[in-house]
Amino acid sequence: MIPSRTNYQKVLGVARDLIQEDLLQVENHIAGVVQAAPPGIHERIDQLTQRKGKRIRATLLCMVSNMGESAPDRIRVGASGAAVEILHLASLVHDDIIDGTELRRGDRTAHVLWGNKIAVLIGDYLLSQAMRCVIEEKNPNIPVILSAAADNLISGEIMEIDFAGRLNLSYDEYIKVISGKTAALVDAAARIGAILAGFPADVVEECGKMGAHFGLAFQIIDDLLDYGVGAENLDKAKFTDIANGLITLPLIYYFKNCSETERSEMQILLAGAAQDKTSEEIIARLEKSSSFELAKNDALSHLEQAIQIAQKLPDTKYSETLAQFFSSVSARPN
Ligand code: IPE
Ligand code: IPE
Ligand code: MG
Ligand code: MG
Repeated sequence: MIPSRTNYQKVLGVARDLIQEDLLQVENHIAGVVQAAPPGIHERIDQLTQRKGKRIRATLLCMVSNMGESAPDRIRVGASGAAVEILHLASLVHDDIIDGTELRRGDRTAHVLWGNKIAVLIGDYLLSQAMRCVIEEKNPNIPVILSAAADNLISGEIMEIDFAGRLNLSYDEYIKVISGKTAALVDAAARIGAILAGFPADVVEECGKMGAHFGLAFQIIDDLLDYGVGAENLDKAKFTDIANGLITLPLIYYFKNCSETERSEMQILLAGAAQDKTSEEIIARLEKSSSFELAKNDALSHLEQAIQIAQKLPDTKYSETLAQFFSSVSARPN
């Protein structure tokens, strides 16, 4: 069955209802970080945190943390969930400078509001605070996992910049980029949730793999949304990838399957994409060559692998809802 959009909103709602108390702890912890920030930072991170985003990473962490034999410690879940979301926010603040984008979560980006100098430092502060959230965590693996996720995220972003403009980017190189910049943090969120659930080491690792597959699918779909494919109420800019010379999965498939003439024509179109003149023609060609569909199928395959792991976890209302959520994400509109 192909999941529908309504299904996505509905399942996300069901998941959030199940972990309402934990998400409240996450929000309280984030609010505490904002309150404690010094002047110059406080007002700015207050403004940034008013716009919450989908809280996908905290939702995953909280869901997994509830799958153990007994309920998790809510304070620890709140602190870890906040850490993951604050680290994600830090990465978005920096990513928007790197990508030169002007819209985030429906509002102006930090660098548009305050300039690059302040935005870099606000991102740094958020990164430092994300680590601070778990500094007193009684399981020392949790801060280690979070810090390793930050390392991988940064490496992925750097790799993406290094690869920019390379029309012959390979499938493996693309997967390496998104494994770092996106899947690493989702993997970490799932593993931290599993530790808080009290799972043994092998199950924690399985949860990490589940998160990684979900994270890869999430980014492949995000890259389709950047072309406007399946997008509705998108709260950020479109066509930023081609404008920045970033080759994502649809173009990798296009170049794999096209003729020499088509390749040269596409190269010319991409060169004009920075001026936003040619995006419609690029989209039409990607559509006609089934390149979007091929990319979507890869996302579905990663979601399927995430679902298979979720179904092996202790059979609870949380694991069932999580599997349904994974399935619905292929139709996420934003
Ligand atoms: C955006 O992440 C960056 C990606 C890794 C695709 P989200 O789509 O989770 O952003 P928010 O938190 O909901 O704004
Ligand atoms: C997402 O980067 C990953 C990080 C923020 C590290 P993108 O540039 O692909 O995501 P959006 O489209 O700006 O949210
Ligand atoms: Mg971006
Ligand atoms: Mg980016």
